[in-house]
Amino acid sequence: MIRRIAPADCDSIAALEARLFATALDQLRLMALQNNPVFCGFVDLRPDHDQPQSTSTDDLHSYLGGYLLATIIDDEAEILSVGVAPGQQRRGVGKRLLQHFFDHGASRNMAIITLEVAEDNLPALGLYRHFGFAEFGRRKGYYKRGNQKIDAIMMKWCRAEAFP
Ligand SMILES: CC(C)(COP(=O)(O)OP(=O)(O)OC[C@H]1O[C@@H](n2cnc3c(N)ncnc32)[C@H](O)[C@@H]1OP(=O)(O)O)[C@@H](O)C(=O)NCCC(=O)NCCS
Repeated sequence: MIRRIAPADCDSIAALEARLFATALDQLRLMALQNNPVFCGFVDLRPDHDQPQSTSTDDLHSYLGGYLLATIIDDEAEILSVGVAPGQQRRGVGKRLLQHFFDHGASRNMAIITLEVAEDNLPALGLYRHFGFAEFGRRKGYYKRGNQKIDAIMMKWCRAEAFP
């Protein structure tokens, strides 16, 4: 089940962010983001868990399957982060979250969505391409992994009829 993010989810999202990303959004930044009127976010809830009952980072004890964080200003959206709990990946959670965001955006006349992804993040690139995102630019060496610098690929989705 997917629902809007609530303040009580911030602990669990921050814990998952810390597991998934080297530079993660912490609980304070998540709370601040939630209070921003342009924020839009959803969580996918695991069917086998009551929520929110635990902030454990252990997949087995978390009610959270995944989350999507975005901003929407007028007809333009930016996806800030998408994460799926390691034990829940490759089961369609990411697709469900993106589809829910697209459905929500359709009701708001959303025309453009942008995001950034590391060029070596093949699962995320696959997910975004599946939904019709295409590369429109690069930030050279934007991400750092040890001594290695990785480009950020900037991707964009445009509603077809908005740009004939
Ligand atoms: C990227 C991520 C959100 C995908 O979520 P997911 O629930 O595992 O993805 P889904 O099961 O919905 O798969 C959707 C599509 O993504 C692609 N994909 C997902 N995992 C993949 C993998 N390991 N390898 C290649 N493609 C993959 C595929 O195109 C897949 O479609 P398919 O199953 O029909 O082939 C998840 O892997 C994740 O949380 N990764 C760590 C955090 C992250 O990198 N977030 C994105 C930051 S830009």
